[in-house]
This record gives sequence, C-alpha cells and structure tokens, in this order.
Amino acid sequence: MKDLDKYYNANKTMWDQFAKINAESKTYKTDEFLKGETSLNSIELEELGDVSGKSLLHLQSHFGLDALSWAREGAQVTGVDFSTEGIAISRNLAKKAKIDARFIQSNIFDLPDVLDEKFDIVYTSYGVLVWLHDLKRWAEIVAHFLKPGGTFYIAEFHPFLWTLDNEDPNDFKFIRSYFPLDKPYQFEVDGSYADAAKKIKPQLDYEWAHGLSSIITSIVDAGLRIKFFHEFNKMPFQLFPFLIKRDDGYWYYDHPEIQLPFVFSIMATKE
Ligand SMILES: C[S@@+](CC[C@H](N)C(=O)[O-])C[C@H]1O[C@@H](n2cnc3c(N)ncnc32)[C@H](O)[C@@H]1O
Repeated sequence: MKDLDKYYNANKTMWDQFAKINAESKTYKTDEFLKGETSLNSIELEELGDVSGKSLLHLQSHFGLDALSWAREGAQVTGVDFSTEGIAISRNLAKKAKIDARFIQSNIFDLPDVLDEKFDIVYTSYGVLVWLHDLKRWAEIVAHFLKPGGTFYIAEFHPFLWTLDNEDPNDFKFIRSYFPLDKPYQFEVDGSYADAAKKIKPQLDYEWAHGLSSIITSIVDAGLRIKFFHEFNKMPFQLFPFLIKRDDGYWYYDHPEIQLPFVFSIMATKE
C-alpha cells in the first residue's frame, strides 16, 4: 500500500511515547503488577484457561504487563511489539518482577523474517486490530506461528465501538465507517488515553476500520477452525466517559434495557 511506511513510522513514534506514559499511568497499574497482581481480566483468564507449561506468543504486547502476567500463570512467553520503548520497558519489568520472558521488537508483519519458532498459543488483546492495515496477512502470520493443534485467542474491543462519537451517550453520532475503507483514518493526537495530563508533541496517527466479518473471514481463510466467538456488553477499561463500573470491575453502558457490544473474543485452532 502506498504510504505504508509513513503510516507505520508515525504510529511507532506515537506508541514509543505512549509506552512510557502508559507504564507510569494510574490506568495501567504497573505498581500493582509489581506487587503481584495480574493485569489480565476474567474474560481472557477464563476463556483461555490453563496456560502452564505452554509456549505463548503475545502479539502487540505493548509494555509487557499482560505478557508478563501470562508468564506468571505459567506460560513460556514471547512478547512482540514494534515499539522500541515498549520492548525496553517490558524487559525492565521482567527483570524487576523476576519473571522469565522474552521480548522481541518487530512490526508483526516482519515477524516471520525475525522469529523461526512455533507456539502452542498465539495471543493478542484489547486495542490491536485498528493498527493493522491487512488482516488477511495478519491471520496468515498468526497461523504461521501456531503448532499443529495450537490455539489462537483474541479478546478485543468490538469494532462497532469505533464507529461512535464517544462523548455524549444521549447524542450518539457515527463518526467512522464500520466496514473497511481503502485508506486509514488519520487522527491528530497530543496525548495518551491513559493519562490526559501528559502531553506529547501533536502528531498524526493512522487507524484502519475492520468489521467483524473481515476479522472472522481472515481467520477462517488462514486455515484456522473457530471454536467460539463471543460478544460482551462490558469492557475492562473506561473507554467512554459515560460508562459505569459495576461490582465485577467491568464498565457497562448505564441503561436498564439497551446493552451494546463492547468486547468480542475468538478462540480458533490450527488442525
Ligand atoms: C493498545 S496496545 C495493546 C495493549 C495490550 N492489550 C497489552 O497491554 O498487552 C497496542 C500495541 O500495538 C503495538 N503495535 C501497533 N502496530 C503494531 C505493529 N504493526 N506491529 C507490532 N506492534 C504494533 C503498539 O506499539 C502498542 O504497544
């Protein structure tokens, strides 16, 4: 795709800055993680199940909290992210928490040239797919890294969410396409979602729309067999200001009858 380097260079520059801000933010609870708490949510913990003794490739592992939490659950973890800063923080946290895990800096589209191994589990979660221009190739890469009989698991924000203006629950406006376009959205950003007070030099980021059918079709076309596909009316982060937190720790749309899809998960296996 024309301009692909421009898009990924801009996104990497942004994520390098976000990695540092996010790791120091209250939103991500790095201190709690270092005291022994998991950063994983009940959705992925319950659905993926026992990972002990299994090799797990975490795609887009950010600054490492979830990857290291899977390692604490007993998996042999390899985290991959294109952010140099994210990988440096991940390695540092692994050292601090005395967790044995490996982190590789790579764009996931380049990963087959960098890593020559197969895994029991390929895992990815929350806020990953909008950053990828080609889901067909993404799913082929997922399948490539799985051992026969291996499991792919994704828990991700529902693509329906990205279509909405997120400010006013009583005046929802559609601001983005649900279905893929031939070019990415371009947004100006001056700070991270995890800490609005810390500003960065304003820059553009690039995000791609992918509907559920594109996501599911790419997984099936890559030769994986889908075991389940779930949708949830809750999310683990307060992505919109009007959400309310319930006792289970998840954020919900505060309406007695109308419930919206906030998260989806898919488990698929390689035959
Ligand atoms: C919202 S974060 C994912 C967070 C994840 N739930 C976690 O904490 O483990 C998205 C991550 O994708 C990474 N990323 C974006 N595009 C990428 C690409 N093409 N290859 C590798 N990493 C990428 C960013 O650097 C960022 O760390």
